[in-house]
Amino acid sequence: MNSMRSIEISISAMFFFLILILNSSCKEGTKKDENFETKGMEKPIRIEQRNYGTTTNGEKVKQFTLKNYGGIEVNIITYGGRITTLKTVDKEGTLKNIVLGFENLEQYEKSNPYFGALVGRYGNRIAKGKFNLNGTEYILAKNNGENNLHGGIKGFDKVVWNVEDTVVSNTMGSLKLSYVSKDMEEGFPGNLITFVTYTLNADNSLDILYEATTDKTTVVNLTQHSYFNLSGDFSQSIVDHKVEISADEFVEVDSSLIPTGEMASVEGTPFDFREIKLIDDGIDAENEQIKLGGGFDHCWVLNNPEKGYRSVAKAHHIGSGRFMEVLTDQPGMQFYTGNFLNGTLPAPIGGVYSKRSGFCFETQHYPDSPNQPNFPTVTLRPGDTYSTKTTFKFSIK
Ligand code: GLA
Repeated sequence: MNSMRSIEISISAMFFFLILILNSSCKEGTKKDENFETKGMEKPIRIEQRNYGTTTNGEKVKQFTLKNYGGIEVNIITYGGRITTLKTVDKEGTLKNIVLGFENLEQYEKSNPYFGALVGRYGNRIAKGKFNLNGTEYILAKNNGENNLHGGIKGFDKVVWNVEDTVVSNTMGSLKLSYVSKDMEEGFPGNLITFVTYTLNADNSLDILYEATTDKTTVVNLTQHSYFNLSGDFSQSIVDHKVEISADEFVEVDSSLIPTGEMASVEGTPFDFREIKLIDDGIDAENEQIKLGGGFDHCWVLNNPEKGYRSVAKAHHIGSGRFMEVLTDQPGMQFYTGNFLNGTLPAPIGGVYSKRSGFCFETQHYPDSPNQPNFPTVTLRPGDTYSTKTTFKFSIK
């Protein structure tokens, strides 16, 4: 009994020290970063940083700018690890921001639909805000009707991430963030140590690498919630974009957008994006599933999961020529067409964000996997590392 107790104490002590080491390495990382304004000046990729503001509870937030001379410039803030702007060139060479965002931290702290955010611990919905793991029932916050959505009330989108490191070479510039989510935070078991690394490459691609470990068996499903509008004009709807998704099936949902457990074939439905087609083609179709989502708000079952990291989706805005490709090792992708945007949130360049002014490609595991025994597992055990990569690659066509 006593020896069990002392093993338990040593495990807790080890974890405590791990957190201390992590925190001090974060501080060191930040210190090192203070020289970054000059570091990399002579290189094709640059990273700059500035203070972005202070949260209402007094935490300092930084903004990092990753730039390459191929024409991409991305701003990321430590609040929610959010991409606030992502500028790419159109076919005339004009640089414009193509992601929905706000002007300042105050606006990000107000209620908003995850603009640019890192989403966790569980991206998408968990039915009735509960799940069972090894015989224990875990009760989560319900923040979407009866369900848990995107990690709960204070998910990873609303916390300030630590800066671990920034690295610049001739071919890439990266920003590594970390966040330690405490045991039972938002109802999820286990202290979860999470790292997210954004890497801007010389070939105009942005990689997002997610890594996590836990000290208790838990569930994890991390994603990125940027809303794209490749026209760069947020007063325009995204229905004029063409999209391709390599998926023969999608996850069928009920009226609260929870999976029924069935995978539906895309064949002959508005969900068939196997050949590139306009979003407009089917978004308002007389189709039960479209009605439930108010448009597209579904998880596609991506083909060839056995291949791991592979090309899974494309988007093209013909007017501007902007084109993007998505690569991931994940089994699913929520394609959400901004159906809940309702003209109440202000855009920095004036105007408001209206319905369908942006779309999201949220690479992930299927919704409600903790309650769906037939879906690929999202369970993470102590000793294992959750590691997944998604890339958004930009070009002109
Ligand atoms: C996800 C969901 C949508 C909506 C948005 C945020 O993409 O699938 O239903 O909740 O996030 O508004």
